[in-house]
Amino acid sequence: MEGNKGSSELGRILGFGLLIILAFAGYAKFGIPLVIPEPPPHEEKITGAMTKDQFIAMGEKIFNGKGTCTLCHSKVGGRAPILDEGTGVAGRAMERIKDPLYKGKAKTVEEYIRESEEDPSAYVVAGYGKPGTNDTVSPMPATNKGAIGLSEVEINSLIAFFEHMAGQDVTVPLPTGEAAPAAASAEAAPPKPAATAVEAFNKYGCVTCHVVPGVAEGGDMGPNLTKLAKEADSRKKGMTGQAYIIESISTPNAYVVKGFEPDIMPSDFAQKITMSEMNLIVNALLGKK
Ligand code: HEC
Ligand code: HEC
Repeated sequence: MEGNKGSSELGRILGFGLLIILAFAGYAKFGIPLVIPEPPPHEEKITGAMTKDQFIAMGEKIFNGKGTCTLCHSKVGGRAPILDEGTGVAGRAMERIKDPLYKGKAKTVEEYIRESEEDPSAYVVAGYGKPGTNDTVSPMPATNKGAIGLSEVEINSLIAFFEHMAGQDVTVPLPTGEAAPAAASAEAAPPKPAATAVEAFNKYGCVTCHVVPGVAEGGDMGPNLTKLAKEADSRKKGMTGQAYIIESISTPNAYVVKGFEPDIMPSDFAQKITMSEMNLIVNALLGKK
């Protein structure tokens, strides 16, 4: 019985891998996406100043998109506290500040959320610190620089989004003048298929968790991928490096790299990444041009 279960499990993984590889080999050169991209969102023209509602909506878009927040702050995996359920993080911010373990500088909800985004280790939510640091170091990258690199206006829009969710007054300034249309157009840009591996790594937030070839700054929640070209062939017996990398991206839990935990890397990339982008990513990780 045991043996049977084992071999059918193996068959399932191999079958799935084969399917992906066949699809990959067949379609990669045509750049056919795995999924039909959604039509570009309706663009709202913003001139002059942004209304409070527009600014809150912008924050929500950044939370679910460009900010890469939901790569970690989502129900899948549970590696970061959920920020957008009930009254959300703004609803509990004052309790955080009153915690005897709180060592940050924030006095208000706005300051707490800003500090969490710009200096995540100022206060680490119990149980979520980097392994081995006794909750003194946050695994969250600062979102106002490095791989995520949000502007001050974008960080403010996130704060407005969270304050609104908790039924609180929006305390951040609304963008006016030049800042308003610039902020709106940055968000309204429809997602284009990436043209280079570096674009793809940025588009899908790989750089939030990995150091990848061609990008100087990257996160360390996942393994450094710049040495993978040498290791991929020997990761799994009987599996080529190319097949292993495709499997790692499509089904991250199929093989968990030593020293790292399962359920951290999102498992829905295969539904989002187009075939041409997958091609770019896999070749870059294999060290090919
Ligand atoms: C790579 C994973 C990761 C990404 C990406 C990430 N975070 Fe976090 N975040 C965490 C973890 C883990 C914690 C809990 C540890 C801590 O307190 O720093 C956290 C904590 C927070 C907190 C404090 C939560 C609380 O309950 O007090 C806020 C606010 C926050 N993040 C906002 C954001 C926003 C906004 C974004 C996107 C712009 C973002 N994070 C992106 C991992 C991440
Ligand atoms: C929220 C963090 C996170 C994001 C975002 C993420 N990964 Fe990962 N990744 C991990 C972790 C943690 C591991 C190690 C555990 C495992 O093997 O599943 C991993 C493992 C891998 C591996 C196997 C590495 C090895 O040494 O064998 C590859 C390849 C990989 N990721 C590629 C990617 C690519 C490409 C993207 C973007 C499309 C991406 N990851 C996005 C966290 C992440």
